[in-house]
Amino acid sequence: MRVGLIGALAVFLSVSPTVRLSAQDTTAGKTVYVKWCADCHGETGDGKGAAALYMLPRPRDFTGAVYKIRTTASGQLPTDADLMRAIDEGLPGTAMPAWQTRLSDGERRNVMAYLKTFSSFFSDTSQHPQLLKFSSEPGGGTGAEALRVGRQFYDSIHCYKCHGPQGRGDGPSAPDLKDDPGQPIFAADLHENWRFRGGPTAEDIYRRLRTGLDGTPMPSFSDLLDQKFLTEEQLWRVAQYVRSLSPPKAPEVRDVIHARQIAGTLPVSPDDSAWSRVDGYYFPLVGQIIRKPRWFAPAVAAIWVQALHNGKEIAVRLTWDDRSQSPDTGWNKYTRRLLQTMASDDSGPQTLAPWPDQVAVQFPPKIPEGMERPYFLMGSNSGSVYQWRWRSAPRGAVAGLARGIDRFDTLPPASGPAARAVWDHGQWRVVFTRTLATADTANELQFAVGRAIPVAFFAWDGSSAERDTRMALSTWYFLALDQPTPPGTFISPVIAMVVTLGLGMLVVVRAQRRGGRRAAARG
Ligand code: HEC
Ligand code: HEC
Repeated sequence: MRVGLIGALAVFLSVSPTVRLSAQDTTAGKTVYVKWCADCHGETGDGKGAAALYMLPRPRDFTGAVYKIRTTASGQLPTDADLMRAIDEGLPGTAMPAWQTRLSDGERRNVMAYLKTFSSFFSDTSQHPQLLKFSSEPGGGTGAEALRVGRQFYDSIHCYKCHGPQGRGDGPSAPDLKDDPGQPIFAADLHENWRFRGGPTAEDIYRRLRTGLDGTPMPSFSDLLDQKFLTEEQLWRVAQYVRSLSPPKAPEVRDVIHARQIAGTLPVSPDDSAWSRVDGYYFPLVGQIIRKPRWFAPAVAAIWVQALHNGKEIAVRLTWDDRSQSPDTGWNKYTRRLLQTMASDDSGPQTLAPWPDQVAVQFPPKIPEGMERPYFLMGSNSGSVYQWRWRSAPRGAVAGLARGIDRFDTLPPASGPAARAVWDHGQWRVVFTRTLATADTANELQFAVGRAIPVAFFAWDGSSAERDTRMALSTWYFLALDQPTPPGTFISPVIAMVVTLGLGMLVVVRAQRRGGRRAAARG
């Protein structure tokens, strides 16, 4: 009896500090939450912070306790570790930042404890989230056979219906997709794993296939394992196949695009095999949020740029992922849902129209002497920019001068760029070509070899209701037309090699001869 009481007291004493601690946790957590999270997630955790209406995906409504990144079965609560992972690393490709470097360990744990108080599910003791058992990754995941099996199941379990045959999110169901709150959602572009919510590795992907992303159309495939439709290893192969669609490393942003000089004609067709041998430069794009109407949810996340010249002409190839070849009435459902969802600071009516896809390449009208450049957001009254603009419908390109975001004066087509484009399974590839020099030296950029030419990029997805100021843009970068490599410098290392090799041979042969003679003399 006494022992029992002491035992109970001991248990109480050992437990009570954590009880007190968790009360403190949530009080301290609230302070962190109000300061760092409430602007997006709302004071009451309902996801309706001041900034929320402009974002897609929206900040999460914590009162529903629906979480994407879990190690638990579909439809279940996440573990504390799952929540900590999302808080620490953020959700890439969304507005949700990573907090690991911004908040202390204690602050992050406290805010996690506090956000659980927004939903009664977490205090409901009848909820027992089932931790999934994950197998470890089978080897050979980058080999041809593994990828073949992965691709086979990618098709047979219908990933393509949402993600498209090439994985760019352009599947037949894509325009219909919405999340649980009814907002439009894209099926992830499987070629950009650095934007996956739950991480880029084959293991991360395998886990998402097991758990699904709750609250979204992305299902869990665990039941297919239960039904023995496929094996653990085959599901891993699907994850490894998906991983293989993205580059081995997330692309780095480099400041200067080098346009190599080649002899002869430039590849003007977007799918000319010559492009596969040209270095590609990756530039992330962001929404235009400086001038009204602003746009916080740009559809085009990034653009790849390649360039070549032959001393007379330049060819610039732009490649970017876009799920729809706009205007496409098949995407009207998506566009309408987007217009209903996104707050706009545009006073005009938000009605549907057949907007095209567009892209623009921007230069200063003259190569600047110093670091002076026109205003990056399409110039200004005092300093214009020279732009190439291409649109999908009516298909074609023009050159012109912009003096600010809403003033564009087309130049006569005589020396404007030629452009050829293809749209292929969720990707645009457009090649612009122009002579380096033109007659209109006052308005048109005269390309010069060996100079750093400022360049910037803009992109619009018509099916995402993007037009005018609602667009994705980059900052200024540079384009450099490389000097022709003088034959001397190119050949001399080769000659040098031959010469040293030859000399080396000579030395060896001589030594052998001498050795031979000596041996002969001795013998
Ligand atoms: C700039 C806006 C913004 C801020 C600030 C912000 N979040 Fe988020 N958060 C989001 C968005 C947007 C999502 C939804 C992303 C998605 O659904 O893919 C999200 C989702 C989450 C999720 C859900 C993860 C999952 O697995 O589904 C958690 C947890 C979270 N945020 C915690 C926090 C915490 C804690 C803070 C403050 C320390 C915070 N957020 C601050 C925008 C924000
Ligand atoms: C019904 C439509 C649908 C099907 C079928 C589907 N997905 Fe998805 N998938 C989505 C959506 C929508 C998202 C985006 C979720 C988000 O943005 O939060 C997504 C996201 C993903 C992601 C990114 C995960 C992350 O961490 O962000 C991967 C990888 C993925 N899917 C792979 C697959 C594979 C492989 C299959 C087939 C086994 C598949 N999906 C089947 C709709 C689908």
